[in-house]
Amino acid sequence: MRELYFSGIQPTGSLHLGNYLGALKQWVKLQREKDCIFSIVDLHAITIPQDPVELREDIFRVFALYMAAGIDVNRNIVFVQSQIKEHVELSWCLSCITPMGWMNRMTQFKDKVQKNADNATLGLYSYPILMAADILLYRSTHVPVGNDQKQHVELTRDVAQLFNNRFKTDLFPIPEPVIPEVGARVMSLRDGTKKMSKSNDSDMSRINLTDDDDLIRKKIQKAKTDSDPIPSHITELQNRTEPLNLVSIFAAIIGCDEQEILNRYSGQNFSNFKKDLADAIINEIAPIRNKYEEIMSDKISLVKLINQSNEKARNIAEFTMQMVKQCMGLYI
Ligand code: AMP
Ligand code: TRP
Repeated sequence: MRELYFSGIQPTGSLHLGNYLGALKQWVKLQREKDCIFSIVDLHAITIPQDPVELREDIFRVFALYMAAGIDVNRNIVFVQSQIKEHVELSWCLSCITPMGWMNRMTQFKDKVQKNADNATLGLYSYPILMAADILLYRSTHVPVGNDQKQHVELTRDVAQLFNNRFKTDLFPIPEPVIPEVGARVMSLRDGTKKMSKSNDSDMSRINLTDDDDLIRKKIQKAKTDSDPIPSHITELQNRTEPLNLVSIFAAIIGCDEQEILNRYSGQNFSNFKKDLADAIINEIAPIRNKYEEIMSDKISLVKLINQSNEKARNIAEFTMQMVKQCMGLYI
């Protein structure tokens, strides 16, 4: 069977190390072996209130960051979600077959509403269906995402199955989530129980891909740890959430497993470790930041590129949507 990998990131605020290790770094590896589609999911971004001026600029920023991180926009399809109207069309069609009970199980919606009751909009509630539409519109077979998105991909599988059964078709492949072994869940530098996130009020809680070297050093130096030395075995880190997070970040950055990091630093306190960790992060991120600035300095070329890339996605999306209409008995 043909394989197609689909993923997306919301253009809200600057991308951080969690996005990089959980998503972008994996994508760059993947694109060498697989057919890939990467989206900038701006329709998802508006499920939470956004400043319109910032949002429009963030779409450019994320596209430029994709490229700077090494995504090849000629080899893959990279596009802006709201430019392809079929995402909303398919989302509506899928929402008409999805039982509300399935939606009520989505933990991310509950978390976001718990954080802020104003978030309780219909759009945020139905967001997982829009995500299912993103994936199924391209009849994707694999979805590389961080751990937090696994439940949404599982819902997508159920919806795809339901559609195929209901309309006696095999239009939609049942997509597999692809979760990286390391880097799947990068935690806040200030609180090891919370995900590193764009929406955290404290900028010190995350490393942004656009942070300069000094700021990265400062953030790692200030990252929360504890007073015990670095242990020799990974099991001894299980209840030390902040140190475990830093060790995981280190492993994900240099591409080894966590135990190898412990072998190198066990018995030491965190000061040496943190210096080396900051260097490793800078080594990886500084070239991305420089490339990003270069791309952003030529907005005209960037706009041209985005418009061309959108076109490639449109062709596939239009075809699938025709098939969906055919299956469901809509006018074609
Ligand atoms: P978002 O920033 O929520 O649009 O997420 C974009 C991608 O980055 C998704 O694949 C997420 O699973 C991944 N991601 C976001 N935050 C983290 C994190 N703290 N650790 C690992 N992956 C993350
Ligand atoms: N919901 C994802 C997130 O917040 C982003 C996303 C939207 C996505 N559509 C997608 C990821 C389709 C993978 C596939 O991270």
